Amino acid sequence: MKPIEVKLGSRSYKVHVEYGLLKKTGSIVRSLCSSEKIMILSTPKIYCLYGQTVFDSLSSKGFKVYPFLISDGETHKNEKTLFKVLREMTRLSFQRDACLLALGGGVTGDLGGFAASIYMRGIQFVQCPTTFLAQVDAGIGGKTAIDFEGVKNIIGSFYQPKVVLADTAVLKTLSDRQLKTGLAEVIKYGIIKDATMFGRLEAQLEVVLRRNPKMLLQLIWRSCQIKAQIVSEDEREGGKRAWLNYGHTLGHALEAYFNYDVLTHGEAIAYGMMFAARLSVQLGLCAEEVADRQINLLRKAGLFRPIRRFNVKKVYEKMFLDKKAKNGQIQFVLTRKIGLVTIQKSVPQSIVFSILRQLQD
Ligand code: GLY
Repeated sequence: MKPIEVKLGSRSYKVHVEYGLLKKTGSIVRSLCSSEKIMILSTPKIYCLYGQTVFDSLSSKGFKVYPFLISDGETHKNEKTLFKVLREMTRLSFQRDACLLALGGGVTGDLGGFAASIYMRGIQFVQCPTTFLAQVDAGIGGKTAIDFEGVKNIIGSFYQPKVVLADTAVLKTLSDRQLKTGLAEVIKYGIIKDATMFGRLEAQLEVVLRRNPKMLLQLIWRSCQIKAQIVSEDEREGGKRAWLNYGHTLGHALEAYFNYDVLTHGEAIAYGMMFAARLSVQLGLCAEEVADRQINLLRKAGLFRPIRRFNVKKVYEKMFLDKKAKNGQIQFVLTRKIGLVTIQKSVPQSIVFSILRQLQD
């Protein structure tokens, strides 16, 4: 399928989505980066599976390749890991023309992108997302970050990669739970921008869950295309980029409330989307059928992992930590119909509390 372009003037770049793409890393990166030295930032598990392919491909194009492995998991997306990466680049005498290639999921990409953005005020950066979730979301759009003082993504930058390489062959090794967490974001793209894709997911969910390679490729390509369009129009989230946050205000709050070890990101945003859908009905923004379709699809996808009762007030407080909150007000992304969302700024606390309570029934 043809590469998708994120159009940002001189910082424009392509997102390649292809089965078996990692073998071509060297030639694609060589055509874009003049670097002599390149770091492959990865985790032990991912490097063991795909590192050699990427290493060989880069070496064959004349790069001096330096793998550097970090521990996986949100708990390691912190300043300690960041400084390990920066220290290693300093030790290797990386200069401004060097490149950092992030091979892994969202943690590797977010932290690697941030390291690339601040080392020598910015070196070249390549994203090779290896999870379904990172391929459809974190790998594109240039948001980089680490977590700090218990707050997710609170330190970071907008720093666009030179290219994004999403190899769909890597999805074979994902667990079912990881696959479903990515699927939650794909469902989100359907709700915010593509009723046809949403309908296809409703009709052919089994095919997706069986990991039909053609189906996964098409869903990832279309999700990347939607994200690329939105980022091209609103890189720094002045407006419509906030749509991508559908289900995320509550999702992030629940992830944090459960210490990031009960719900995956996709499971958390599934609850967030159920909340947003019900809130939209309550506020008269959409018909009940619109919310039911969303909730039914998320349920069929097995995304509502049972959770213990949560403290509604504490979860509500966490919703204010969302970076999209402004002037002490939460910005809610809500549904008008499948394929169309809207932003609502002031929603009475009593309504939010009542919908949050309903989630637990
Ligand atoms: N993950 C949401 C965004 O990139 O804006």
